[in-house]
Amino acid sequence: MKIRLDKFLSDMQVATRSESHQLIRNKKVFVNDQVAKTANQKIDPLLDKVCIHHQPIKYQKYFYWLLNKPAGVISATSDKHQATVLDLLTDNDYRNDLFPVGRLDKDTTGLLLLTNDGQLAHNLLSPRHHVDKVYRATVQGQVTAQTIATFAKGVKVDEHFTAKPAKLRLLKYDENMLQSQIELTITEGKFHQVKRMFQALGMRVLSLTRIQMGTLTLGDLPQGEYRALTSTEINALQ
Ligand code: URA
Repeated sequence: MKIRLDKFLSDMQVATRSESHQLIRNKKVFVNDQVAKTANQKIDPLLDKVCIHHQPIKYQKYFYWLLNKPAGVISATSDKHQATVLDLLTDNDYRNDLFPVGRLDKDTTGLLLLTNDGQLAHNLLSPRHHVDKVYRATVQGQVTAQTIATFAKGVKVDEHFTAKPAKLRLLKYDENMLQSQIELTITEGKFHQVKRMFQALGMRVLSLTRIQMGTLTLGDLPQGEYRALTSTEINALQ
């Protein structure tokens, strides 16, 4: 699909619209080795070679960042009062069309995908696709074989919502603190789902982190940091 030259340059964040106009007027922009004449000239981003100051501009339509969300930031694109997950991106990486794929609570940490690819986000979030989400949590109380069996059948959260069968694993039980470290795999993404599932059984989630979503894993990415997905990871998601 063809787009305006100034839009291409601003989409690739090499220049604002008005800077692009200036560069074009100053004959610094070349399309297929010819000086660009006007900002509204149409180009095909996949076929045409665009250079500024003789440097080729690489075209990229979609951006994918894997973030290890820290506690204290909200899963939104902008907020008047609170820091959002997009505030964690450097100026270079920030784009105003990026958004988080789904939500983690303000106090939840871990894997969050940031992208401008609406179709991919839809596929990952659609209940029809049953994408696994894996969480690690510390919960107050003892997770028993009975708890695990209840999660496997589907926890009745309230009158209106019974969660789909979920895989619960006890990693460690601390007898002194009366706390269980668990790993939970769910295929849904309802509001406060993990906390509400435990709450329904009288157990409180003390800390929660997401370590996996579909084929994406957090690995050893430190909290508050992010990295670009590899092409293998992007292909696996699609
Ligand atoms: N379940 C929750 O309760 N909170 C989250 O942030 C994610 C899943």
